Amino acid sequence: MKYLISGGKKLEGQVSIAGAKNSILPILAASLLSKGICSIHNLPQLRDVEMMGNVLKYLGASFIRKTNSSVDIDSSGVSAISVTVDLMRMLRASNLVMGPLLSRFGEVRVPFPGGCDIGSRPMDLHLKAFEKMGAQITDRHGFIYAKALYLSGADIHLDFPSVGATENIMMAGTLAKGTTIIRNAAREPEIVDLQNFLNGMGARIKGAGTDTIRIDGVPELRGSEHSVIPDRIEAGTYLLAGAISGGKITLTDVIPEHLEPVIAKLREMGAVIYSDSNKLHLVKSTLLKPVDIKTLPYPGFPTDMQSQMMALLATVPGSSLVIETIFENRYKHVSELRRMGANIKIEGRAAIIKGVENLSGAVVTATDLRAGAALIIAGLSAQGETLVENSQFIQRGYDKIEIKLRQIGAHIQLVK
Ligand code: EPZ
Repeated sequence: MKYLISGGKKLEGQVSIAGAKNSILPILAASLLSKGICSIHNLPQLRDVEMMGNVLKYLGASFIRKTNSSVDIDSSGVSAISVTVDLMRMLRASNLVMGPLLSRFGEVRVPFPGGCDIGSRPMDLHLKAFEKMGAQITDRHGFIYAKALYLSGADIHLDFPSVGATENIMMAGTLAKGTTIIRNAAREPEIVDLQNFLNGMGARIKGAGTDTIRIDGVPELRGSEHSVIPDRIEAGTYLLAGAISGGKITLTDVIPEHLEPVIAKLREMGAVIYSDSNKLHLVKSTLLKPVDIKTLPYPGFPTDMQSQMMALLATVPGSSLVIETIFENRYKHVSELRRMGANIKIEGRAAIIKGVENLSGAVVTATDLRAGAALIIAGLSAQGETLVENSQFIQRGYDKIEIKLRQIGAHIQLVK
């Protein structure tokens, strides 16, 4: 399937933001830690959520959608400790089952997560931490195998504030003997959401959202009920869609402070945005000025918004600089934006963007979900029709994007 967009329409209206994909995935993995039933709410309909559900079912858990936006998970029947190559290939976040399975069963076996289109994405920080907690790690025939009679708390300093490593270590520490400290931990809002979910299961974790997290191990965890936080990246994506069209849009069901780095940049460009409680209002987005962007761990500018911001900057008169510091290969969208007339030069980790008067519609290909979102944003402003191929990538992280965009005036449809 492909997205067919005819550009040039000013977007106006209200968009409701769904639950955060990057909060849901670790929380679903964390449900493996308990023999009780976990009920998770505010779940969007995303391929990645269904994929993580398949991983849980493969391991022996039940994953039952109660409504369109909530699911019950019963992990009492889990006995498998291994994930297949296919499951890992389809969802890199399958590696988040390592902490829970190692902590609950004392062993886990996962295929090396393949590199994907945004870089090599190793797991060295996860594995070094598990070893420090007492696990023996071996890797052969493309699989990583971790085994421990039991996990002990440890004082772990992360070389890099990895989101996944922070999450895996938090989950591993919940049932470990003693206290685990994670230093230089990732500070993303999704880490705080995971802490709240785990503490709701009876875990004892403090410090999420700061660079030091303390986990005091407990003997057992119970089932819990939790509603996940709104998706700050989905929200940021719609903000930029509104901005590139010169329109006025309101986002509802958001946590404005989670978007602070994106809002700050848009204001620097001259956009007028204000927030009230769980809403964000983009009221002016014409005559924008160029800016420089450097992606950094939270609360820096998020790498997951880099490609979408590049699409916007491609239409802003003047010269902007983007530096991607998190992933070594997250510029796959540049060649596709060039096909639409964008003037972008790559030099190592830096991209120099010279804004053009108009982008022109073209047939382009999504290489990952955020690159795909960037191409849709570019198509909204381009002259003529844009066809974005590989819609399946975009559906991994955006629930009904064509419907939400049509609701605010975009001419977009999903076609064969
Ligand atoms: C999470 O990926 C997100 N995914 C990504 O979102 C996001 O881009 C990323 O964090 C950074 O914010 C989920 O939460 C499911 P990392 P993760 O570990 O955990 C290197 C999206 O579009 N690294 O913080 O895999 C790694 O190679 C996705 O929604 C190591 O070197 O990211 C990368 O360069 C894309 N060794 C950097 O750290 C390790 O052991 C950031 O990785 C682990 C990571």
